[in-house]
Amino acid sequence: MARTRFAGLIAALALVAGLVPVAGQSQVPKTAKPYRIGIIGSGQQGGSLGELWARAGHEVFFSSRHPDTLKDLVARAGATARAGLPAAAAAFGEVIVIAVPYGALPQVGRDYAAAMRGKVVVELGNPREDRDGPMANEAIRKGTGMASAEYLPGVRLVRTLNALSAVQVRNDAHRAGVRLGVPVAADDAEAIRVGVQLVTDAGFDPVVVGGLARAREFDRNTAVYVKGMTAAQIRETLKLPAP
Ligand SMILES: NC(=O)c1ccc[n+]([C@@H]2O[C@H](COP(=O)([O-])OP(=O)(O)OC[C@H]3O[C@@H](n4cnc5c(N)ncnc54)[C@H](OP(=O)(O)O)[C@@H]3O)[C@@H](O)[C@H]2O)c1
Repeated sequence: MARTRFAGLIAALALVAGLVPVAGQSQVPKTAKPYRIGIIGSGQQGGSLGELWARAGHEVFFSSRHPDTLKDLVARAGATARAGLPAAAAAFGEVIVIAVPYGALPQVGRDYAAAMRGKVVVELGNPREDRDGPMANEAIRKGTGMASAEYLPGVRLVRTLNALSAVQVRNDAHRAGVRLGVPVAADDAEAIRVGVQLVTDAGFDPVVVGGLARAREFDRNTAVYVKGMTAAQIRETLKLPAP
């Protein structure tokens, strides 16, 4: 009985502190700024991140070309989540997150250009020739920040959350102690601000690397790609000044 009352007290204190309990994870802080987030590509990376954002208090619209497949994900993500087609997610979001195989990015950029225009768009794909074909090599050569900007004209692009594996997203979000660092790059101040907020709300420590031209410094196969570094280690490796 005393234990039940104690648990109730802890839950009440957590609510007062703006913390939300998450199964299998420590308390998740509520976001300072809730967004309507439309996610195009709700697989391993987009799905896991969307769950974390929903739990942090964002309104999340997951999408798939087969939205019926997203019922379990929506149920896990909770009351602020829903699902539909990619076009509906692009229209819904004030912030759009694109988490599709990189080879699909040109088509996604064309098909949803009107709905995404002027919005902050997080793009986290990692081009790979074995999956995406020869266009991947061109994107790697240019650096993804520059390549993705060409596929997504008219948006406020931020490259982030690509250098973290889906396993790290699932296992290390909001971890105790020093959080994992996540590089962020954008040319637009608002895009940086939103990117930093979403990395923080997903339970990681953002590291602003610079403009889109510098996003290549955390592309696949770089020294900081999925290495499980803290923000301080990323800054040291990329020779960034202390914040
Ligand atoms: N997995 C990781 O560890 C990880 C880490 C960092 C970055 N990334 C990058 O994140 C991106 C997604 O990877 P993932 O592992 O999450 O892949 P995934 O599990 O295969 O999910 C990709 C999703 O994209 C959707 N999709 C594919 N083509 C589409 C199109 N033309 N239009 C709209 N939606 C489309 C698919 O949904 P439907 O088929 O249901 O429509 C699918 O659920 C990749 O570029 C990958 O390199 C992955």
